[in-house]
Amino acid sequence: MSAFVVLGAQWGDEGKGKMTDYLAESADVVVRFQGGNNAGHTVEVGEQQYKLHLIPSGILYEDKLNVIGNGVVIDPKAFFEEIDYLKGLGVKVSPKNLIVSDRAQLIMPYHKILDALKEKSRGKNDIGTTGKGIGPCYTDKAERSGIRMCDLMHTDVFKEKLQENIKAKNEIITKVFNGDNLSFDDIYKEFLVYADRIKPFVKDISVEVFNSIKAGKKVLFEGAQGTLLDIDYGTYPYVTSSNTIAGGVSTGAGIGPTLISSALGIAKAYTTRVGKGPFPTELLDETGELIRDKGHEYGVTTGRARRCGWLDLVILKTSARLSGLTSFAVTKIDTLAGIEKLKVCVGYEFEGQVIDYFPASLEDLAKCKPVFEEFNGWDDSVAEARSYDELPENAKKYLKRIEEFTDTKISIISVGPRRDQTIVVSNI
Ligand code: GDP
Ligand code: IMO
Ligand code: MG
Repeated sequence: MSAFVVLGAQWGDEGKGKMTDYLAESADVVVRFQGGNNAGHTVEVGEQQYKLHLIPSGILYEDKLNVIGNGVVIDPKAFFEEIDYLKGLGVKVSPKNLIVSDRAQLIMPYHKILDALKEKSRGKNDIGTTGKGIGPCYTDKAERSGIRMCDLMHTDVFKEKLQENIKAKNEIITKVFNGDNLSFDDIYKEFLVYADRIKPFVKDISVEVFNSIKAGKKVLFEGAQGTLLDIDYGTYPYVTSSNTIAGGVSTGAGIGPTLISSALGIAKAYTTRVGKGPFPTELLDETGELIRDKGHEYGVTTGRARRCGWLDLVILKTSARLSGLTSFAVTKIDTLAGIEKLKVCVGYEFEGQVIDYFPASLEDLAKCKPVFEEFNGWDDSVAEARSYDELPENAKKYLKRIEEFTDTKISIISVGPRRDQTIVVSNI
């Protein structure tokens, strides 16, 4: 029995897409369990680059089953755009290799409008969301007014729920935000087309995933975003609206926690974040710019420049604890090549003490001063390494410190974006 989780250990964009694609080769099923098309997962195979947002990164293999879980919020328009994009690149996508949960919540046009209006109303306190309607959709889910995939499969139910929602949302849009009324007819017509097209993909995915695990198949759960964007344990309110930590798998795919055997945390060799919010090791100087340029640190979903900073081991230790990580995959050590002296944060100075956990309050976090250790750098030859032994000695020292501080082993090292630029150190 084998079910394992791949998730982001920082603020997202750690290389989950690349690692999921790499590991999917030996898996049978790949499952997304939270988030939506706010995610942007890049996979490079040879010269071809694929950008995935909603569809699991196992889709590039014809013989894998890809599953979009109930914890995911689905924008049907984005779903079909992504399928068309993949088909345009020669990827086969059909209900044979992709299924979608009947319990997943739908991102409706008003969620995207409300996402933008809310952000605008927050003024300088905006979150810097991706604008995909994620927050408003999860809000409706928690408020119990959301529309689910199974509702879309029943035209009469869908019609009634849409009527109620349009009425309620128009009140908010026009009276609170001074915006324009939405037309029920336009949205209803648009969604009837989606309903027909999506029907063959819709399943009770908990049953499918459970049966796969019981049948001895390998199931990989692909996280989106990262630990510090988690709605409970992230840098709230500068977070996304779902549980990005391993616990999210159980609720987001309907699988008991005892069935999950391991959790791989993907960690970039430095830290990035896109959008607003605290970032203790952020580099607002030319080193930060150098990392951004060399690492092509621009958002896959929004194109925004990612903020860059030194590796923060307090974050990785926190991530290992919250998700019970069994190992790390460290990516992009090639991006750091050429920097003579590297800094790594090994604690925060807070009220006269050094702490190694992430405080809840942003006011306390603002008082935290990173404590750094310095490491000697390595050169570009690192991108050519195909085994641990071939890595420069300084890179090995850097990686050893990560293992030591987090008390978690590194099972995979990534030295470039392509599948072949991957070093497996030990079994995950
Ligand atoms: P995700 O959201 O976690 O899947 O990550 P993104 O795809 O948003 O961002 C990671 C970026 O780094 C992508 O452009 C990947 O192709 C790239 N990448 C992944 N691993 C490596 C690596 O080891 N080295 C380099 N140079 N790029 C990598
Ligand atoms: P992947 O899966 C990085 C960030 C946004 C914003 C905050 C809330 O590619 O790692 P939202 O639209 O979710 O309400 O935005 O979360 N964010 C991400 N940052 N990688 C992502 O996904 C992200 N998905 C959301 O920038 O700060
Ligand atoms: Mg990304």
